[in-house]
Amino acid sequence: MRQNDIAAISPNAPVILEMSHISKTFGAVTALVDVSIRLRKGEVLALVGDNGAGKSTLIKILSGFHRPDTGAIVYQGKQVHFGSPREARAVGIETVYQDLALINDLSVYHNMFVGREYHKHVLGFKLLDNKKMRGLARTYLDTLGIEVPSVSSTVDLLSGGQRQSVAVARSIYSSPTILVLDEPLAALGVREGAHVLGLIQNLRQQRSVSIILIVHNYNQVFEVCDRINFLHSGEIVLDASTAETSEEELIRIVKSGLGRQAV
Ligand SMILES: Nc1ncnc2c1ncn2[C@@H]1O[C@H](COP(=O)(O)OP(=O)(O)OP(=O)(O)O)[C@@H](O)[C@H]1O
Ligand SMILES: [Mg+2]
Repeated sequence: MRQNDIAAISPNAPVILEMSHISKTFGAVTALVDVSIRLRKGEVLALVGDNGAGKSTLIKILSGFHRPDTGAIVYQGKQVHFGSPREARAVGIETVYQDLALINDLSVYHNMFVGREYHKHVLGFKLLDNKKMRGLARTYLDTLGIEVPSVSSTVDLLSGGQRQSVAVARSIYSSPTILVLDEPLAALGVREGAHVLGLIQNLRQQRSVSIILIVHNYNQVFEVCDRINFLHSGEIVLDASTAETSEEELIRIVKSGLGRQAV
């Protein structure tokens, strides 16, 4: 399904998230400088930029992994301060990290249900309901068309692409309000990448979840995103809807010294 098959997001769609004037340094390294982003309900926002531009740092601040030095986060109309990823997840912000997606020595199905395990009571004891979780994981991965050798395999036996697909599936499973995907396509082959893009496109069509997608390939940005925020050296240098800009424009901006612009 191509971009043009999906109606543009309404300018009246409510703003679900606003991160304003966020700055962050790590010792001598300045990762983010006065960064502001806005996300509407149902919108798919691309965060693009070179290696080290600050993309992961920004989403780790959103997910409670890092604290910002300055700035504010307003989520669903209220200012929030997340002390940990668990706190962000509890209110519906689900993040698939670039570097720490799954727990390698747990099975696929245990990974699917980390932090939201099903239990059963046997003779007064509370035990994990493995059978139920196995069945649900298998059905859910089948529904999404994700192939793994077995849901009982430990994750370290999967290929990088399978692992990435399971991580994305797990994040979608909890029906989040905001889904943050940090380079979900990086480790994927052509077929698996197209599959994950298809999952994102389906979510976009339903317009029920807002997505922040970090991706390097501009082509893919234009395929599945409504809006683009371009980070360079910790600053937003472009904020434009995909309809208002083009791959050529992005390349031109990169080459032209990256002055701050609003399109
Ligand atoms: N925990 C950390 N401690 C020290 N420096 C960090 C830390 N995390 C990120 N940085 C630095 O902050 C800057 C931004 O890094 P970040 O990971 O946000 O970039 P990125 O845009 O996600 O890059 P990539 O495309 O390579 O993933 C880099 O200079 C990086 O070295
Ligand atoms: Mg990164």
